[in-house]
Amino acid sequence: SGLITLDVGFKNTGSTTSNVTFLDGEKGILRHRGYSIEDLAEKSSFLEVAYLLIYGELPDAQTFENWSSRIMKHSLVHEDIRKIFDGFPSTAHPMGVLSSLVTSLTAFHPESIDPNRDSAAIDLTIVRLLAKLPTLAAWSFKNSQGLPLEYPNAKNDYVSNFMQMMFKNKHMDYDVDPVIMDAMNKLLILHADHEQNCSAATVRVVGSSLSSLYVAVSAGINALWGSLHGGANQAVIEMLETIQADGGNIDKFIAKAKDKNDPFRLMGFGHRVYKNFDPRSRIIKKAADDILDRLGVNDPLLDIAKKLEDIALTDPYFVEKKLYPNVDFYSGIIYKALGFPTEMFTVLFALGRLPGWIAQWKESREMVQPISRPRQVYTGETHRAYPEDRTVA
Ligand code: CMC
Repeated sequence: SGLITLDVGFKNTGSTTSNVTFLDGEKGILRHRGYSIEDLAEKSSFLEVAYLLIYGELPDAQTFENWSSRIMKHSLVHEDIRKIFDGFPSTAHPMGVLSSLVTSLTAFHPESIDPNRDSAAIDLTIVRLLAKLPTLAAWSFKNSQGLPLEYPNAKNDYVSNFMQMMFKNKHMDYDVDPVIMDAMNKLLILHADHEQNCSAATVRVVGSSLSSLYVAVSAGINALWGSLHGGANQAVIEMLETIQADGGNIDKFIAKAKDKNDPFRLMGFGHRVYKNFDPRSRIIKKAADDILDRLGVNDPLLDIAKKLEDIALTDPYFVEKKLYPNVDFYSGIIYKALGFPTEMFTVLFALGRLPGWIAQWKESREMVQPISRPRQVYTGETHRAYPEDRTVA
């Protein structure tokens, strides 16, 4: 129909107005509720940024205390959820496990599936999600290793609680290193929201049918999983390992990325909106340098990453197409140094992005946005007569 504008991939279509995140791709600016990502990453904790995204203001000391203790209080998950873990093979990718478990929260906390839920029920779902996702994430890791599950400790702060559940076990303590906690807080903050990206748009679309926040977030986790989106952080490390195994021939991989007959893309390069630089990459690059320095990590993959970056940044193909390293290029390097297995990288992105998904969902519901239902331009067969002599096999 002539009335329909076609914009495959929504490259130029705004789907909503929003007060949450401001992004200027040309100038490389990212702000949440008006505050710059640089300030937030430097001066705030992740849970503060979560509050800011969801409720619009930085919390005062008392509000923050109530907020974080309420979240920590809800960090246990129902014991029966352990039985669901038993059903997954240990080879299951933790992203699939995580999204399934988040959907399963509707069974344990049905307050969220009532379309007439009031704001207290919505707040409870928000708190439960923020509280339980780190537990489910850490358990999906322990399950993949065949290790006993570690319970949350409400006395710890949000980030150290997660790290303890990940790395502590019955015969090994995990020392909370403030440098690592600071790096983790920064990484989570840098991933916290990014306006109408694929997963946030998914969360809003799913929420628009009035389904529960749990399932909307579960859909967001699945959208994030793909290698063009959050899955890129795992794909970057795998790509660097492939280059290393191939003898470190970077030029060969650059040539592959430029070859239009080869589907290979340089993972961790390019962005739909940033056509100058990704402000998050600058912060994360510095954090990567600091943390590797501090931990005394000497990883040959890092040398490959640095060379790759240098070559790509001067190669006319990448320069002309304005392809710069994105946040996923550096995050995997830090996660690896901190001891996370590659398969957990995208889970860490999901932990960071959760407040953004919640904020986007909440805003969309408060605006009472109509059900999302895009149109299409039909290009298939026109009317065909059903063959009269056709016999069904
Ligand atoms: N390597 C080689 N060529 C590329 C790359 C790349 N990484 N990214 C884009 N191009 C080329 C692409 O082939 C196209 O060329 P042409 O105009 O000649 O056909 C041009 O650059 C524009 O690319 P596009 O695919 O039309 O751009 P897009 O906005 O649809 O895609 C992107 C953005 C991020 C999906 C893409 O750059 C990409 O696939 N990057 C690699 C995956 C990645 O790192 N994803 C993480 C994104 S950052 C945060 C997040 O969401 O996790």
